[in-house]
Amino acid sequence: MLESIAATRYVTPLREGGSLPGVVEADDLGTYVVKFREAGQGRRVLVAEIIGAELARRLGLRTPDLKLIDLDPQLGVREPDEEVQDLLKASTGRNLAIDFLPGALGFEPLTWLPDPVFASRVVWFDGLIHNVDRSWRNPNLLVWHRDIWLIDHGAALWFHHNWKTADPQRPFDASDHVLAPFATKLDAAAAELSAKITPELLERVTALVPDEWLEGEAGFGSARAVRDAYVDHLLRRAHGPREWLTSGAEPERRGQGRGHGRGPGSVGEFWRGGGR
Ligand SMILES: Nc1ncnc2c1ncn2[C@@H]1O[C@H](COP(=O)(O)OP(=O)(O)O)[C@@H](O)[C@H]1O
Ligand SMILES: [Mg+2]
Repeated sequence: MLESIAATRYVTPLREGGSLPGVVEADDLGTYVVKFREAGQGRRVLVAEIIGAELARRLGLRTPDLKLIDLDPQLGVREPDEEVQDLLKASTGRNLAIDFLPGALGFEPLTWLPDPVFASRVVWFDGLIHNVDRSWRNPNLLVWHRDIWLIDHGAALWFHHNWKTADPQRPFDASDHVLAPFATKLDAAAAELSAKITPELLERVTALVPDEWLEGEAGFGSARAVRDAYVDHLLRRAHGPREWLTSGAEPERRGQGRGHGRGPGSVGEFWRGGGR
């Protein structure tokens, strides 16, 4: 189970992304980034955040701690921004809290050269969870205490917005991925990480999602059935044919693939400093 806490003060919205997460203080004296249940695409985003982050952590990738946070209906009463007030009101009850990393900086590839082994692990992991939200425009990586931390897995597992078409072999195009140009050891990363992805591991990870965020999913009889579907999908993707990772990230294609050095405004130009 994820630890449960209660919100004591809404501090400020984070307006960077589309989902309007907020910085919130809690009764354990911690400060958190809260993802609200009723924001944007709703509770499935929170499911993706939990499965994405907790799987990353167990594969050895750094990501802030997650907790479940209870929101009192009074919390937003004095909030002057109407959009925020509506979101807080609608999201009364259980939401997701992500440990706030104070002073963290957005990842900047021009000042931080990622290690190829690390980059390859992240690209393979994002391919596994279908995470398209780690592009060079929007890296969702933070630099904190001299390490890189993975955040924002809400857009991952997007097949769950239409389970009928979920395909464990769906290709993942990593050509836009912020770490793709450094991911020269993908085969090793795939072998290393897939060996860790066991049914037990995935069951432990999916068990962390509260039942209430899984219940009522169309086509499933119970929260348990939805958990089993995530486990099955990720097992097939991790252990089936690896053709789903098709991108310009392989070493032999570096410098030739789409977006790697061709034309003005391409990723290659960005790496060299011309894109900003
Ligand atoms: N745990 C955290 N610690 C510090 N800053 C964070 C944390 N999580 C998010 N942020 C900041 O808030 C921004 C938006 O959060 P993110 O999780 O990416 O949500 P969105 O879905 O809106 O993109 C991030 O780009 C980052 O600058
Ligand atoms: Mg983001």
